[in-house]
Amino acid sequence: MMLLLIFLSLVLISSASPPDWLIETIETDVTLTSPDNSTLVLSNGLVTRQFLISPNFGTVDYRSESAGRSLLRYIGTEATITLDGQQYNIGGLSGSSGTHAYLNRSSVQIVADPNAFQYTGHSQSDPTAPFHWEPGIRFSPKTSNWPPKGLHLQVDFKAPASVKVPSHGQVSVSLHYELYQGVPIMSKWMSVQYSNTTPVAPIKINALNVEYLAVQKPYAPWNYGSSPHPWDMGTGMTGSWLYVETDQAHGTVVQFNSDPAVGASPGASEPLLVCTYYQGGPGVLMANVPNVSSYLTQFDSFRVLELLTDTDDRERVALSRHRMTRLLAPHTQENPIFFHATDNSPTGFQNGVNQMVDVGFEMYIYSFGSGFNMESTSSDYIKQIKANIDYAHSKGIEVGGYDLICLEKGHGGYGGNVGDQWDAIDPSSQKPTANACFASGWYDKISGIMTNFINQTGLSMVETDGPYGGETCASTTHDHHIGNDDSIYWQTRLQGELYKTLKDSNVFINQPDNFFYQGGNKVGMGYNENQYSLPRRQDLLVSRQGMYDDTYHFIPTQGWMFVPIVDYHGGGAAAMFEPLETNILDYEWAFAQYLGYGVAACYRGNVLYDGPNSKAVVTKWVSFYKKYRDILISDIVHVRRPDMQDIDAILHVNPFIDNRGLAMVYNPTLYTLSRNLTLPLYYTGLKTSATIYQEGQEPGQAYNLEQDYSVSLSLKMEPQTITWFLIKAT
Ligand SMILES: *[C@@H]1O[C@H](CO)[C@@H](O)[C@H](O)[C@H]1NC(C)=O
Ligand SMILES: *[C@@H]1O[C@H](CO)[C@@H](O)[C@H](O)[C@H]1NC(C)=O
Ligand SMILES: *[C@@H]1O[C@H](CO)[C@@H](O)[C@H](O)[C@H]1NC(C)=O
Ligand SMILES: *[C@@H]1O[C@H](CO)[C@@H](O)[C@H](O)[C@H]1NC(C)=O
Ligand SMILES: *[C@@H]1O[C@H](CO)[C@@H](O)[C@H](O)[C@H]1NC(C)=O
Repeated sequence: MMLLLIFLSLVLISSASPPDWLIETIETDVTLTSPDNSTLVLSNGLVTRQFLISPNFGTVDYRSESAGRSLLRYIGTEATITLDGQQYNIGGLSGSSGTHAYLNRSSVQIVADPNAFQYTGHSQSDPTAPFHWEPGIRFSPKTSNWPPKGLHLQVDFKAPASVKVPSHGQVSVSLHYELYQGVPIMSKWMSVQYSNTTPVAPIKINALNVEYLAVQKPYAPWNYGSSPHPWDMGTGMTGSWLYVETDQAHGTVVQFNSDPAVGASPGASEPLLVCTYYQGGPGVLMANVPNVSSYLTQFDSFRVLELLTDTDDRERVALSRHRMTRLLAPHTQENPIFFHATDNSPTGFQNGVNQMVDVGFEMYIYSFGSGFNMESTSSDYIKQIKANIDYAHSKGIEVGGYDLICLEKGHGGYGGNVGDQWDAIDPSSQKPTANACFASGWYDKISGIMTNFINQTGLSMVETDGPYGGETCASTTHDHHIGNDDSIYWQTRLQGELYKTLKDSNVFINQPDNFFYQGGNKVGMGYNENQYSLPRRQDLLVSRQGMYDDTYHFIPTQGWMFVPIVDYHGGGAAAMFEPLETNILDYEWAFAQYLGYGVAACYRGNVLYDGPNSKAVVTKWVSFYKKYRDILISDIVHVRRPDMQDIDAILHVNPFIDNRGLAMVYNPTLYTLSRNLTLPLYYTGLKTSATIYQEGQEPGQAYNLEQDYSVSLSLKMEPQTITWFLIKAT
């Protein structure tokens, strides 16, 4: 045992806390400094993480500069890995100050575990992008940075001398930390290298913890360790000032445990963050086996994304998380106005495109149930589609199409043609499921089909309605996984790789799943399919309530909604918007609420208008959207939830553009309502005054902000009307 008594100095808070990163641009560079030969300090002015590199590597401080406090409660191992059933610490420092309940920095005793992976060196570089993307594509903000600005720190470790299995001596591990500029956001991941020579001795990675942090409250959910109360992503982050997620759609676990070590300190119970990979995984095998892709010599884990929100205010947490999405998945801000077209006959196609041009739509999507077949290999069919797409391109319209990439034939009537040999196998029954295994030959086949179809036709958007959904596959004969244990890892990885490849060639991706960090653009905003079969007005109100709630979770451009111009699941004439001229008030509300929230809807039908009034309504709201697009796709501050008992309202905010705010106000009732509406303007970045333009009309009216940065607008709304206010600096 290496034992070292050190005095970890208290950081004296001399400087003022940094400005609010949600309303100010913070240009401070991310730096890695070494104040003495045993310490590294990674900081961006908002977050500071301090490491020891001797006697081994480990985090000894993790600070929020805006809150002016440390998260840490105890110094523990940096990460863990389990190889062939043997668990090893990475770094493996432990630092006690007599108790684990709090870190008494007056006296910390550091102990280094000789059986842990040992620090060998570190290096720094710029962050790299997981796929090619250009800011500004499809009306996304041109100001995004891709890859994000920041600093990547790589720390290398070798196996300890005391490995329990000889081949483990040839394993080396790296930990990666990436801290970004101007935001309290960091990511961390692990890579593993295995340099064995013949004879081949495969090693299995049974489990790993990428992050292991003994934190103090409130940097943990209110109810950590007990059965969680998730309000999002199933991670149960309620109340935690440290928000944590992974970059994976499936199989990863972010968990705050009750620290067992604290049990040894009677009277204390404190949270411990662990990020574990895949229930029972990753389960991958490492070995140098030429030509077998499912054996690895280099393994990269998922990324843990950590955000210091320093609050449990729901709006602020949501706005902070949205900055993480915009930073690390900036393509989710692409926002073409699309038409989900159901009449794909050659004349239907041309008519649809012509209507789109008339009203200003931008993307044509061959809808489900339209007969479109991306998996077709018929050259006549491909020629016909190419001719259609050429026509659309000549009018400035992009074209996309629908496919159930991973769901088996017969699924909802639209399934793919997956061969039986590629079915996923249920591990308990050993029988095929209704899905393809995405780590079988089906992956090669569907990737080839999609790439070829896109190349032959000029399609530039895919609606992949059945991506890999998270199940295991027990087959032992599939090309891209070895058995049940590594099947989630490989299927998730290959689905991500397909999306990255598509994104590299600038394809827009709708995916009812969370592959955002692998290139997915949009997911269903969060709705019950049956709400679109409700009578139109019920549908509109329920859907506006849903968007109001779901925009705490997603940025507006990250989710889609639905407008059943023709019948969707059912509901008949009462639910569908056709005939549009007859249902013109409801049709206008649909555009006003979706475009007003900045949320794309699948306007699904044969036509976008069927007379002059419906054409005028669509043109009016599409023009409005295009004129105020920059603020409409910005984040939402929630003002009053739609409940049919009063007006309802939201406020788009963006402190970094001229249009600082745009409030959408809806009166869905049958009453004329006079109200003083309070708009909280803090997140517009305005401090003392604002000029507000009702429906964009000059002249604007000057307002002084109250002490809490709000203004009160006096307004009178006629029954079933919509109005809006544009907010600018004075
Ligand atoms: C760090 O190490 C170098 C070389 O070993 C030595 O010259 C220097 O004085 C050390 N600095 C500190 C602050 O200990
Ligand atoms: C903190 O550590 C110092 C030095 O060992 C000790 O004197 C003191 O009692 C400790 N305080 C608490 C509250 O643990
Ligand atoms: C493995 O791949 C190499 C190069 O791609 C090839 O020459 C060799 O024949 C392959 N071996 C087997 C067993 O398939
Ligand atoms: C199809 O692939 C060829 C060969 O790589 C390339 O030259 C061509 O531009 C591609 N066409 C489209 C529409 O992507
Ligand atoms: C709005 O506020 C003004 C000033 O406080 C007050 O006179 C007026 O009655 C209020 N209007 C409504 C509809 O509450």
